[in-house]
Amino acid sequence: MYNVREVTKDLYWVGGNDRRLTLFENIHPIPEGISYNSYLLLDEKTVLLDTVDWSVCNKFIENVKYVLGDRPLDYMIINHMEPDHAACIGEVIFHYPDVKIIGNKKTFTFMEQFGFKVNGNYIEVKDGDTISSGGHEFLFISAPMVHWPETMATFDTTNGVLFSADAFGTFGSLDGRLFNDEVDFEREFLVPARRYYTNIVGKYGPQVQTLLKKASELDIKYICPLHGPVWRTNLDYIIDKYEKWSSYEPEEKGVIIVYGSMYGNTEAAAEDLARRLVEKGMTNIVMYDASKTHVSYLIADTFKLSHIVLASSTYNLNIYPPVREYLLTMKELNLQKRTVGIIVNGTWAPRAGQLIPELLAEMKDMNVLENKVLIKSSMKEENIDEMDALAESIIESMK
Ligand code: FEO
Repeated sequence: MYNVREVTKDLYWVGGNDRRLTLFENIHPIPEGISYNSYLLLDEKTVLLDTVDWSVCNKFIENVKYVLGDRPLDYMIINHMEPDHAACIGEVIFHYPDVKIIGNKKTFTFMEQFGFKVNGNYIEVKDGDTISSGGHEFLFISAPMVHWPETMATFDTTNGVLFSADAFGTFGSLDGRLFNDEVDFEREFLVPARRYYTNIVGKYGPQVQTLLKKASELDIKYICPLHGPVWRTNLDYIIDKYEKWSSYEPEEKGVIIVYGSMYGNTEAAAEDLARRLVEKGMTNIVMYDASKTHVSYLIADTFKLSHIVLASSTYNLNIYPPVREYLLTMKELNLQKRTVGIIVNGTWAPRAGQLIPELLAEMKDMNVLENKVLIKSSMKEENIDEMDALAESIIESMK
């Protein structure tokens, strides 16, 4: 059975929701599900914008057939070749063999690499090119690394719809809703949106900034991303979030404490610090056990908050592995501009105390606080002063 929504006059959402997938990209848990958005315009020529993941391909084809009725599919614009959007290109060609595919040079290179045959039936476009479908004109905006090198956004200059590819997307299934004003975005989608952006696109902040600059010159009425709600009101809200995330500026003053603890002693030291921070007036604190929280959640809150505290045991003369994974992921994602406090535990050789600052030194603009805390096996009276000094220096650095 088809399941479509009208976005605006003659434009339809023909995507699908996936609540079965456990790990997005086989890495990131998505208990909230995900939507794969595809859009279909009925103009003098009919235009499909992107396809969907294989998991919802049958539903998608049914949707496309329903909206098109007896009409042929004339164009298929491919903004992004990652298989969560491009997997069904072959199915579309199978059902509509005369469709002309629109993409850029890299789009077609990747299409071939993924095994799709377009048989010369394509139009290659580059940044700034336009194509008319009769009543609508599409402007192509290259958006390399948002989130792959071939990625582009497409702007319908006639109705102000920006097809933004992965940008402005989020984890979370739509559940019948489509528009941002049909959901409580802050309550339902802000946390998944932040986790989606920071982990999937977070590394490419400068490229996202470039896209935001190009977008600021357009009169955008709708943002149609490839995942999550379509934005038709309050566009500045999500654009402001993207400004912050892509410039690595924290959204809030606050502390994420991430600890790695084998027997609870490092955890107890982290708890001690958390209590001191609250007693000194900083209540915006989240605490995570790195061993049991997927790193994507840690990364999302690290982008959100201004301060990080790492509390790590030493393990194999190294940083405790889950804390190390967190640090390495942070580095890979280009995270920067944070103030960091360090608590280290070592029963005989607290090597983590040396290795954590070394890793942080490889990242940009990380302010590592001088007042580190070193505990031997467990926190004791003798550690109280240095723990209090660490708490004090975190508070001071927020002023
Ligand atoms: Fe949703 Fe980069 O694919």
